[in-house]
Amino acid sequence: MRILVIGGSVFLGRAIVEEALRRGHEVTTFNRGRSGADLPGVEAVRGDREVAEDLARLTEGREWDAVVDVCGFVPRVVGASVRALNGKAATYAFVSSISACSTWPAEAGSDEGSPRFECAPDAGPEDGDYGTLKAGCERAVERGFDGNVLIVEPGLILGPRENVGRLPWWLTRVARGGRVLAPGDPGTRMQVIDARDIAAFTLAQAEAGVSDRFFTGGVLGNVTYGDLLAECRAVTGSDAEFVWVKDHFLLDREVAPWTELPLWAPEGPDFAGVWLASSAKAHAAGLRCRPVAETVRDTWAWLREIPEAERSFGRHGIDPEKEAKILTEWS
Ligand SMILES: NC(=O)c1ccc[n+]([C@@H]2O[C@H](COP(=O)([O-])OP(=O)(O)OC[C@H]3O[C@@H](n4cnc5c(N)ncnc54)[C@H](OP(=O)(O)O)[C@@H]3O)[C@@H](O)[C@H]2O)c1
Repeated sequence: MRILVIGGSVFLGRAIVEEALRRGHEVTTFNRGRSGADLPGVEAVRGDREVAEDLARLTEGREWDAVVDVCGFVPRVVGASVRALNGKAATYAFVSSISACSTWPAEAGSDEGSPRFECAPDAGPEDGDYGTLKAGCERAVERGFDGNVLIVEPGLILGPRENVGRLPWWLTRVARGGRVLAPGDPGTRMQVIDARDIAAFTLAQAEAGVSDRFFTGGVLGNVTYGDLLAECRAVTGSDAEFVWVKDHFLLDREVAPWTELPLWAPEGPDFAGVWLASSAKAHAAGLRCRPVAETVRDTWAWLREIPEAERSFGRHGIDPEKEAKILTEWS
């Protein structure tokens, strides 16, 4: 197949390009050339999806079997790509997010039948937060594209080249060793997925010409918090000693859930369903998830090539002094 990936040079998009090449497809990537290098073997078209002339240059004289749009965050911008590509491809696959669903993360059991946020398909960047705008982007594709429309809504994604900084921060912290502040309950069952597994699923659906919408999260409870950190200790060969500190103790000290201690979702109504969404439909349709231990191992293999000072964790990770102070108070 001829496949266009809008994005494709960083994390999930890059995994999709890698997998598409592995499956023998011809791949075009479209990005600005700022965030990373394109993989060898692709036709790289430089351009900004927000610039009409760049979209016109992309589509001039080219057609694809499938478009995979990995970097759509604003409905109006996605709508412009959809209009430019309508009639130029059989399938438009849009990478959305479970955050488009308005019952997640508060309610358990969210799935494709759960409500999505209200958001118009021509909304602008100021018209909502990340999840609301993703719902608008989905509508922009559903209403504007005449061919197959494939929407994938991933849950929490990990894996090599993760650009959010969650597992990279934990691996780096655990590798440093010593007493490590670990949040909540080590038995908390999570639900994470490797970017490479979403890539394989998305491409398989596009190859089959499927028009549908899928939650693409990991297997329910595929790792506990304790096992995830133990894997981090095993692959880094560290002497880390995990000190599990109760949710309320951390909240009282204004530790921010989800970011300051990545992946930490304290018990309570806000996060009651965070690890309990259902991707049963995608699993039944062929989504296969590798063991989380493999994800941790491969992420460390990638990360250790990057000097610690050059690693980027975005807004993730707790300040070492704050961590030490909490550990002292807890003891
Ligand atoms: N991480 C998670 O846990 C999670 C969960 C659910 C859903 N998601 C979704 O998964 C996707 C992850 O994306 P990724 O960062 O891994 O994708 P990626 O395709 O690997 O990287 C982002 C790409 O977008 C390109 N780009 C950004 N702005 C652009 C523009 N204006 N015009 C053209 N290209 C542009 C970047 O290149 P240049 O900057 O060089 O242009 C880069 O190639 C996102 O849609 C996210 O919402 C993530």
